Amino acid sequence: MIDRLLQEQAAFEAALSAVDDEDGLYRLQVAFLGKKGSITGLSKQMGALSPAERKSLGAELNRVKDAIAAAIEGRRVALLDAARSRDLARVEDLTMPPLQAPIGTLHPLTLARRALEKTFRRMGFDVAEGPHVEHGAYNFDALNIAANHPARDMQDTFFVRPRAGQPPTELVLRTHTSPVQVRTMLDGGRPPPIRVIAPGTVFRVDDDATHSPMFHQIEGLYVDRGVTMADLKATLLQFTSAFFGRSLAVRLRPSYFPFVEPGAECDMQCPFCQRARGGVCAVCKGSGWIELGGAGMVHPAVFEAVGIDPEIYTGWAFGFGIDRMAMLMYEIPDLRLMFDGDVRFLRGFAG
Ligand code: DAH
Repeated sequence: MIDRLLQEQAAFEAALSAVDDEDGLYRLQVAFLGKKGSITGLSKQMGALSPAERKSLGAELNRVKDAIAAAIEGRRVALLDAARSRDLARVEDLTMPPLQAPIGTLHPLTLARRALEKTFRRMGFDVAEGPHVEHGAYNFDALNIAANHPARDMQDTFFVRPRAGQPPTELVLRTHTSPVQVRTMLDGGRPPPIRVIAPGTVFRVDDDATHSPMFHQIEGLYVDRGVTMADLKATLLQFTSAFFGRSLAVRLRPSYFPFVEPGAECDMQCPFCQRARGGVCAVCKGSGWIELGGAGMVHPAVFEAVGIDPEIYTGWAFGFGIDRMAMLMYEIPDLRLMFDGDVRFLRGFAG
């Protein structure tokens, strides 16, 4: 029996040296010391021995059991230590650059609009907004645009059918940013002086190489006592020089818009002009001027429509297209590039 015991101990030691993980260690423990383990089996046979043999073998058995249990425990601790050291020795490369999250770029129009807002804010203007779906009353009537004016024609204006159950008011996709003038002046919390700009999208039934049914304008409005057309011109001069970084001439040509009197077309001196160098400028086609849009002194009928006394207050307004301004700023050759949504084009404007 003693021999069997020593054989088992030798077998255990050989098996232990091959164990390299917790699971293997557990299996070993079960195989030798478990209920059906080989050492346990030997101790069950002790009943058949004489008391003297039992005594000496019992002592030997306990010694071997304790040795096996201690060896298993020792190996368990060693395995844990080794795992911990592997963990600590693991080296992370903290200098590895992170993967770049793909982020978009701002649309050239957004860049242009922000630049305009910044320029006008510095001159003391607030930025106002209005809805794209607008009341005909604000888009036309309050702006002194007569009921039979051709702008109301189906050819120019997108009309919107009011929802079932809604009052049958005339709704349109705003054809210009001028209704924001009306909204601003009607806003009782904003008595004159009023100084706002209103950039935004406008819509007209129009679609060809140089016209898009959706385009963008910036409206300007200044109302106070004693405002004159000279203030308009001074503001435009200040705006063009702030925006283009150098002073450019501005000219006003008489024109007609129902909501101003007198009305004017505004041009600014071409900031890209090559005329001076003897060539024909591709931007202004050699005229030396670039059209900004319409402007004028707010019509008394508009003041009356919004409850401002035209005997006390005067004001000027302008409405300029900003798509062309963005095209000039970023040298974009074709209007349609702006609205096609082609990311290859848009990626060019990291800003
Ligand atoms: N709303 C006009 C248009 O879209 C532009 C305009 C002209 C705006 C004269 C104004 C203005 O504020 O005074 O054609």
